[in-house]
Amino acid sequence: MMPEWLNDAVFYEIYPQSFYDTNGDGIGDLRGIVEKLDYVKNLGCNALWINPCFDSPFKDAGYDVRDYCRVAPRYGTNEDLYRLFSEAHRRGIHVLLDLVPGHTSEEHPWFIESAKAEPNALSGRYIWTDFWICGVPNHPYIGGETPRNGTYMLNFFKCQPALNYGWRKVTERWQCGVDHPDALATRKALMEIMRFWLDRGCDGFRVDMADSLVKEDDENKSCTAAIWREVREMLDRDYPEAAIVSEWSNPKLALNAGFHADFYLDHWHNGYHSLLRQTDDGMDRSYFKKDADSDIMRFLDDYLPKYEATRDVGAISFITCNHDTPRLAPRLSARELQLAYATLFTLPGVPFLYYGDEIGMRYMADLPTKEGGYTRTGSRTPMQWDKSANMGFSEADPEKLYLPVDPDPDAPCVQEAEGRDGLYETVRAVLAIRHREPDLRTNGSFSVLYARPKDPLFVYRRGDRIAAVNPSGKACSAEVKGLNGKTPLFTVGEAAAAGDRLTLAPQSFVLL
Ligand code: GLC
Ligand code: CA
Repeated sequence: MMPEWLNDAVFYEIYPQSFYDTNGDGIGDLRGIVEKLDYVKNLGCNALWINPCFDSPFKDAGYDVRDYCRVAPRYGTNEDLYRLFSEAHRRGIHVLLDLVPGHTSEEHPWFIESAKAEPNALSGRYIWTDFWICGVPNHPYIGGETPRNGTYMLNFFKCQPALNYGWRKVTERWQCGVDHPDALATRKALMEIMRFWLDRGCDGFRVDMADSLVKEDDENKSCTAAIWREVREMLDRDYPEAAIVSEWSNPKLALNAGFHADFYLDHWHNGYHSLLRQTDDGMDRSYFKKDADSDIMRFLDDYLPKYEATRDVGAISFITCNHDTPRLAPRLSARELQLAYATLFTLPGVPFLYYGDEIGMRYMADLPTKEGGYTRTGSRTPMQWDKSANMGFSEADPEKLYLPVDPDPDAPCVQEAEGRDGLYETVRAVLAIRHREPDLRTNGSFSVLYARPKDPLFVYRRGDRIAAVNPSGKACSAEVKGLNGKTPLFTVGEAAAAGDRLTLAPQSFVLL
């Protein structure tokens, strides 16, 4: 089963570039994260996911790793990271690093070695053809760059050659099976990287593109899953307190492959998308949008079967956003965000809050792409701490910042959000209740009490608790079984429970 701490974990995702700069070079750093651990804890988060902080040419913001076991100098040293682990643990905070298993940077020494003309021990570490035209459709490849007589396959950008975990069915001379010594050597190298960090205090990994290991896998990704099951066996045996969370967004496959939790990502037309980012014919139809005239059915139709099929195996992770996804503000108003987060944080699973979402940081459209960010760049701007220079992020000259801070004079910041009615205090209040009430934790039971087509009201049960949300602009009411005698623990807006009848004012949430 999962490590006990995950049952009460609420994660805070930190994009290290943009969190807090302590040495005035305009880029966030590990010491900056250490300085803000009390802030994270006070918010109600007791776990971190840090985006890749390893040595890298940063053509994909660090997802192009050049050395898996060395902290990027711009963030500090390995010692700084070890200190971050121990300072976090002192505060009851667990730390996940970002593991990128599917590819490395083209500057990784493994790749440089494998690109040599003479066969060597690393020739099989990546996927190379033996001819200058690659025969596999749907897989981008690169030729003309290296002395080696062949082309190599990519996993994402041009700078990210695919590591070789072998092929399910070998159909070409240059392919090897998943049990070939070269494929097994890649697997072993992956597990050694994990051990390196786990031995030094890391609590586990968020795993990048976790489904991408074996190319041309079957529909159930059985070969890729087998690799993760081996990883999980290693964890259960040697690091039973460690957790792995997958970027897969297919909980049935990911959790059965051994992940403890799987992200429910913003994918076109899935249930999560319908809650927060759904547009139809240019109209915003997101469930939490006040005027969307929407209902919860599109979400439940997708989510419930996934939840039912996996609740005994692992957790589904709801996210407020992440470094790849457009932030919700300003498209959703502060009130819409309050209702959305109150709901996300009271559903089952392990929730993730993206840095800055607690204050409603805005998506900054039209920023030029930075480090391979493209449209993602607008979700990666510096954290807004206060109203001092660079919004308290850094003492560097503004033009030296990793990305500009939000120039709006009304841009939200922590200093102004603390202690005031609003999004930030709603997040704090809901997270405090979540930690206090065992029913609301990851594994607490969940069932739907009220959900109807063309009706914005959604009522659900978590153990002895009942939660209800009405994101629409009109009052809603319903008979709810088991309501009798329950009193509100937490409310956004207004709600009344009388007998079995529950009534929610426009744009309201209640936990009873
Ligand atoms: C994942 C990461 C993304 C990165 C890509 C390639 O989707 O979240 O930021 O660009 O993988 O590693
Ligand atoms: Ca710095």
